This record gives sequence, structure tokens and C-alpha cells, in this order.
Amino acid sequence: MPDSVKGNQICTLVIFGATGDLTHRKLIPALYHLKLEGLLSEKVQIIGFARQNKSDLEFRAGLKSAHKEVSRTLYDESFWQVFDKQISYHQSNFDDLDGYKSLESKIQAYEKGNGLPSNRLYYIASSPSFFGTILDFLKQSGANSSSDGGWRRVIIEKPFGTDYDSACRLNKVVAGSFEEADTYRIDHYLGKETAQNIMVLRFANAIYESLWNNRYIEQIQITVAEDLGMESGRGAYYDQAGALKDMVQNHLLQLLTLVAMESPVDLSADAVRDEKVKVLRSLQRLDTIEKVKKNTVRAQYVDGCVKGEPVPAYINEDRVPKDSKTETYVALRLFVDNWRWKGVPFYLRVGKRMTKKSAQISIFFKQVPQVLFNENQKLEENVLMIKMQPDEGVAMKLMSKVPGSSFELNPVNMNFDYETTFAKQSAEAYERLLLDTMSGDATLFIRKDEVEEAWKFVDDLAAIWKDESKAVDLATYEAGSWGPKEADDLAGKMKHKWLEI
Ligand code: BG6
Repeated sequence: MPDSVKGNQICTLVIFGATGDLTHRKLIPALYHLKLEGLLSEKVQIIGFARQNKSDLEFRAGLKSAHKEVSRTLYDESFWQVFDKQISYHQSNFDDLDGYKSLESKIQAYEKGNGLPSNRLYYIASSPSFFGTILDFLKQSGANSSSDGGWRRVIIEKPFGTDYDSACRLNKVVAGSFEEADTYRIDHYLGKETAQNIMVLRFANAIYESLWNNRYIEQIQITVAEDLGMESGRGAYYDQAGALKDMVQNHLLQLLTLVAMESPVDLSADAVRDEKVKVLRSLQRLDTIEKVKKNTVRAQYVDGCVKGEPVPAYINEDRVPKDSKTETYVALRLFVDNWRWKGVPFYLRVGKRMTKKSAQISIFFKQVPQVLFNENQKLEENVLMIKMQPDEGVAMKLMSKVPGSSFELNPVNMNFDYETTFAKQSAEAYERLLLDTMSGDATLFIRKDEVEEAWKFVDDLAAIWKDESKAVDLATYEAGSWGPKEADDLAGKMKHKWLEI
């Protein structure tokens, strides 16, 4: 066992819905890389639990070919051969008690035979319609509790509910099977290196925190753009969700909480989440038609070009109804009504089929008074840019003098780039998150009250958008663009502009 692997991280990881995309493209590559870094003990058993009939060999072969395609490092066959010995497959329906019992006997026999602790990590990565069933059967089969001191933890994928009521119902089912401290609701954006760096940037550097409030900050922008449309048959799911529920309810609101939260009393999971949930509670609700019309834009993409290739309109995507009114783009102007942030707009925008894949948080500082420099010299505001993807880094826009005898000013960027500075590629979000669940650290996972608060906020807006009598427009934007003109108007209301990325 490598030194970096702690004994209490040894466990059996059972992945429910293991034949799906997430396991192939994210979870197995993450586990492979953890092993490559010496962070996954050879004693960790990985068991795929799913309905399809497959042998261990067939299951591993499928994982291998997906891994080869997506791996962030050069594929190493001999390393894969060592890694895949830890992987096996268990065929069962999700509502078949015998399937859970036979799995439990198999695991117990293996653990006893090899002198391993009886720690279990259940990863529910199935279709959301099975979340409740799986939790229930884990309980019925007794797999949710241990009689010999081993731990039992559950990871639940998104979407966690489709609205406030369904999230509360699911929380009740979870609570019937697992303690809250053993429940890990995933939001993979929290596992991204730069998202974790937000707290460090804010609380480990004296210069920012003293300016981090409505006296010095003019506005904040959070952009998450994707160039992809409805790949791998996602149209049916996406058309039910839309960008608001697919991305804003979770990833964007989570990023907002990290930017806006107060300093926690310590870095324990509950201290951090206590502060994040306060931000969600302070969000000004979008609960009237006037507020919605003033502060929100929703839009859908029409035909266009991405990276020089023509792409179809959303309504012509696979498994999307031709008369769909689902939004593939959202722009919001939000206000966090507390002492620190009163009056500062938080602009959020997210969309599919935009110009390029990019996620960035931009903090715009207030302008200095225009007294010293010639009025023709346009002073631009300082902007702190936290770049999350594709390239990770932090940049600061400053005004600078252009070298020479005249007093000409120009904006320049001070850049810090992760890969160059640390000479190391960042880990994928799922690597960090899986490691944290094995070590029992829930800081980067969503607590029960957080998910409920986020849904409460989103539900108000979703209800008004859905209500045809309220006639909130669905704007359009060309695929491959930065979104609809209406989003520029939204920022323009307070004389702001979206930062060009
Ligand atoms: C998922 C959404 O949660 O995040 C997808 O369901 C989206 O629609 C994805 O494409 C984006 O994640 P990332 O890490 O590629 O930005």
C-alpha cells in the first residue's frame, strides 16, 4: 500500500448504474488516475452493479475502450492490466432484493478472505428514477449498516430532485437509509481545482478579502459556456430539465456561494456549508413577474456554426420535440441581500452551443475617480478573473502606462496559469471527489439544506417561466454565438457589459 493511502480509505466501492456514460467516461478514468498517483490502494474493490447481462471481462473491456478515448494521460496498457484486476461486475435489477443480498455475501466473503475492513462506498450513478429504489433496497438488504465497525457511505449523483418537493422527498428517503454525515450529494463543479481555489484566494490573501464587498466591487459575472449541444441522446433528459435546472440550480449557484460566502469558523464540512447555505437564503427571490422580466433572460439556440461546422437548431436535435420551449441558455441578474453584497449584481449566464467551452468568474472592482488622467484616456475597471476551464488560472486586469514619453494608459493582464506554475496537470474533479468520499470529507459535497434552498430559489423562477399566461419571452440565439442580444440588454440596464472571454 503506498504511503499516501490511509488504512481507513480501504473500502469496497459499488457503482449502481455502472454501464452508463458517467462510469465509463468519468468515474473509472478518475479511479485509474488516483491509482496512478498512488492514491488508490490495491485493496479497494470496485464493483459495477447494473441490469445488463455481462461478464467481468466484458465489463472491463467496455471500460477500457472508453478510458482510452478520454484519459487525460497517455494510456498505459500494463498499468491498466494491474488496475482492472480490482474491477468486477454484479448483474441485478435495482428492485431485486436477492441481487443486493448476493452482492453483500460476495463482498463479505472477499473481505473476510483477505482480512479487509468492511467499509462500503455506494455510488448511485443510475438514472434518477432509480435513486429512491436503490436507497430503499440498500436498507432492506441491510447493506446500509455495519455490525463490525466498518463505515457505510453513499454518493448521490445529480440531479437531486427536479424541484423543491421532490428534493425534500428524496432527502427523506436518504435519511431513512443513511446518516446525513455519510451522505455525499455530488456537484462535480466543487471538485474542479479552481473552484477549490476560490476559498484560498479569498481567505489566504490579505489583499482581496478587505475589498470583497459592495464598497469596492461593482459587479460579479459567472459564465459557464459550452459548445456542445445534445450529444449521446441527452435530448430527452435535457428537454425536461433545461439550462435552469441542469446547470443553474447546482453548478452556478454553488460557484456563487463560494464567491459570496462569509469566512467559515474553520474548514470543517459543516462550517463551510453553514456559510454557503446563508448565501442561498440571502438571494433575492425572483418570485414576481416584474422581477423575472427585469432580471432574467431565457433563450434557445437556432441553426448556426460551431468551430466552423454547421449545427442544427435545438428543436432539430435527437429526442427533442419540434415545438420545445425549453431554454438552452439562461442569463440572470441576482442580488444577495446581506450587508456585504447589498446592491451588487451577480450576473450568471450559462448555455449550450455557445462559441466555445469556457467557465470563468469575473470580479469587477469599482472605478477610481476620473480626475488625474486625461479624460480621453478611458480608464477601465480592475477585473479579477478566476478561470476554471478550459485553462485554469487567475488573471487580474490592471491599468498600466504604455512605455514612452507620453502618458498613454492601457489595460494589461497579470496572469497566473496553473499548468505552467505548478508544472502539473490538474486532476479531474471526480478524482478529488472520490478521494474525499473515501477519506470521509464532505466539504465539497452538498448538504441537505443547501440542495433544498437552491431548489426553493429556482422553483419560483421556473414556475413563472412555465406559466404561459405570464408570457415571459423565450429569446433565440445562433448556435456558436455568445447568446442572445437580450442578455446584453440585461447587463446594460446597470451600464454593465459581459466580459469578453
Ligand atoms: C452536467 C450537466 O452537470 O455538467 C451537463 O448535466 C453539462 O449538461 C456538464 O454538459 C458540464 O460539465 P463540465 O465539467 O464539462 O463543465
